[in-house]
Amino acid sequence: MRVVILPSEADASNFAAGFIEDYICEKQDAVLGLATGSSVLLTYETLIKKHQESTLSFQNITTFNLDEYVGLKRYHTQSYRYYMKQKLFNHIDIDQKNTYIPECFNDDYQLSCNNYETSIKSCGGIDLQLLGIGSNGHIGFNEPTSSLSSRTRVKTLTKSTIANNSRFFKDSEVQPSIAITMGIGTIMEAQNILLLGLGKHKSKAVADLVEGPLSSFCPGSVLQNHENAVIVLDQEAASELKLYDYYVHTEKMKLKYMC
Ligand code: GLP
Repeated sequence: MRVVILPSEADASNFAAGFIEDYICEKQDAVLGLATGSSVLLTYETLIKKHQESTLSFQNITTFNLDEYVGLKRYHTQSYRYYMKQKLFNHIDIDQKNTYIPECFNDDYQLSCNNYETSIKSCGGIDLQLLGIGSNGHIGFNEPTSSLSSRTRVKTLTKSTIANNSRFFKDSEVQPSIAITMGIGTIMEAQNILLLGLGKHKSKAVADLVEGPLSSFCPGSVLQNHENAVIVLDQEAASELKLYDYYVHTEKMKLKYMC
């Protein structure tokens, strides 16, 4: 696991966007796994800027989002489909036919989940998966005690996740309490993982993820078992790491000897 600690949210997001850009330059038809939430917003803004100001193109890119709420209309303003259009897809040259988000609009959720897994496989699997981390350690909507080998499925959200995400819903709007999410096993099959942790409120989850025991109680800790996981943090999110100085030192050594 590579742990990159940067001074600010802007620096961390810039690193993440640069990482994705470099990946796309190497593999122009890459399959990206994408996340929603606030942690990835600045990364998406930076990617849009890079697209507008340089030759970065998403024309041949395919994307799979981690999750979607069950119970919202397709283009509800809080649906993740709407989020992705507003925050990224409408501003880049991606073919929106190649942007997959779990379908939660028919009654056969199991079929939707199976289809999602099949679509990921038929596109050759995910090359680079972008992740955030919930303050309870969830990745996607895989809440604590999710099976570490779970596949795409319907998941009941915890009270803390519902409370954390309530900031996105108006008082008059009904907030869903279930979602379809890629499973932890699905996420772990991505060739590369890039996780962004930002802010003091993520510091405990980040410490559990990086240094805690591998446990389904902190689903993100499963990334300790991934060969190519990069954890990008701002200083506040990294503040509870016991080996903080070591991670900073390691990155300096990398710059000195590997560039
Ligand atoms: C949400 C999403 C996750 C996201 C996480 C963190 O509930 N399902 O994909 O990574 O929680 O969200 P935020 O970045 O807003 O803190």
